[in-house]
Amino acid sequence: MKARQDSEDLTRVGPGTVMGNFMRQYWIPAAKSSELVADGDPMRLMLLGEKLIAFRDTKGRVGVMDHRCPHRCASLFLGRNEQDGIRCIYHGWKFDVEGNCVDMPSVPAAQDFKEDVKARAFKVAERNGVIWVYMGERQANPPPLPMIEATLLEEDEVDISFMQRSCNWMQALEGDIDTSHFGFLHVGHLDPDNVPEGHPLEHTASERAPEYHVQDAPWGTTYGAFRLVKPETYYWRFANYMFPFWTQTPQGPFPSNIQARAWVPLDDQNVMMIFWRRRTGIPGTGVPLKDGKPLGGTRPQPEFLPISTDWLGRYRVKAVEGNDWLIDREAQRSNAIYSGIDHIGLQDQAVTESMGGITDHAFEHLGPGDLMIARTRRRALQAARAFRDGKPAPGADAPVVLMAARSGFFEMPQTIDWQHAYHEQMSAAERAALAQAALETAAAK
Ligand code: FES
Ligand SMILES: [Fe+2]
Repeated sequence: MKARQDSEDLTRVGPGTVMGNFMRQYWIPAAKSSELVADGDPMRLMLLGEKLIAFRDTKGRVGVMDHRCPHRCASLFLGRNEQDGIRCIYHGWKFDVEGNCVDMPSVPAAQDFKEDVKARAFKVAERNGVIWVYMGERQANPPPLPMIEATLLEEDEVDISFMQRSCNWMQALEGDIDTSHFGFLHVGHLDPDNVPEGHPLEHTASERAPEYHVQDAPWGTTYGAFRLVKPETYYWRFANYMFPFWTQTPQGPFPSNIQARAWVPLDDQNVMMIFWRRRTGIPGTGVPLKDGKPLGGTRPQPEFLPISTDWLGRYRVKAVEGNDWLIDREAQRSNAIYSGIDHIGLQDQAVTESMGGITDHAFEHLGPGDLMIARTRRRALQAARAFRDGKPAPGADAPVVLMAARSGFFEMPQTIDWQHAYHEQMSAAERAALAQAALETAAAK
């Protein structure tokens, strides 16, 4: 990743860029369904460096379009969300959710040309509480929605959280596939002797430099990190990168760990993390240790700023560079919290934002622990360039491939090869009901 062009092609997402064009081949999760109410206020929405508006019409349909009115570019954010369409407040032209101009009251009836005018609207879908947008050129015939299992969980089976981060999408995503930071940034202050048996951190605390395998997968890349935890038994943690901006991390037992994260670029230097996690009731890292206290730095929620109507005004946290991410130096010095930052997600947020809006890849020195990151960058870049050169975007039209991706941890005899171990666990994995039905439909074809 030393070449400047590689860095540019990987990180830039605006219209006409290599990665931006590639990402536009896939559906993009953009907002919670609950953010838009019928006939309610239009919402500013930034996606892939484009300024859009989103609104819900009288019938409940969602419209997502370029914020500029196609007449003379006044922002439709100011528009009146009236009876099945949004009306520009400048000259009163009105557009339905598909972008059709349905009224042109400022033009004499005889000269009306509304059939010739269209707002630049995108295909929209809603599934299980999330609004998805397809921004590619196939607006009349878009690909199917992705079959990422966590996004197929019914609303009452899943927790979905949004959190905005001020840095490049890939830089943020890399934290999810960087297993070696966990033992430092998040649990560097954990005393292995204080961890009870069966605690979620039992094995990650004792060995802070795990070995791991990395390989390309049909959906992107995958790694399996392993530690010898008992005689002849490996403790495995598997994680995935999935095209174009998805990850699955090993935060639960493999058979039941249905989760995924989208790192949706708002522009080149801002990203929305959307995290789907099946509700399992399985306790997380905040479970008390032997001394009866939870691990420091694991408070359940960060503090969010109020939602604003700014382009980047949704799901921002209070901890930002300007207040040093609320770092507590005393907690850091006393080792109550290794990082001094209280919340696991904020710890990730602080380190990746601290690299700058787009990290200078030429300044880095990647080590053996960064193998998954190096491979993922290369895989994403190659897939995006292959698309530019006329190849299909992998998985966009056959999303069933994503059903074979799962993350999580398990123990397995040391003699079992890592790929067999993965497949064995996968064949015994629990499935979301909608995912199971989709798999059966695909198998019947
Ligand atoms: S700019 Fe929107 S109607 Fe004129
Ligand atoms: Fe992390």
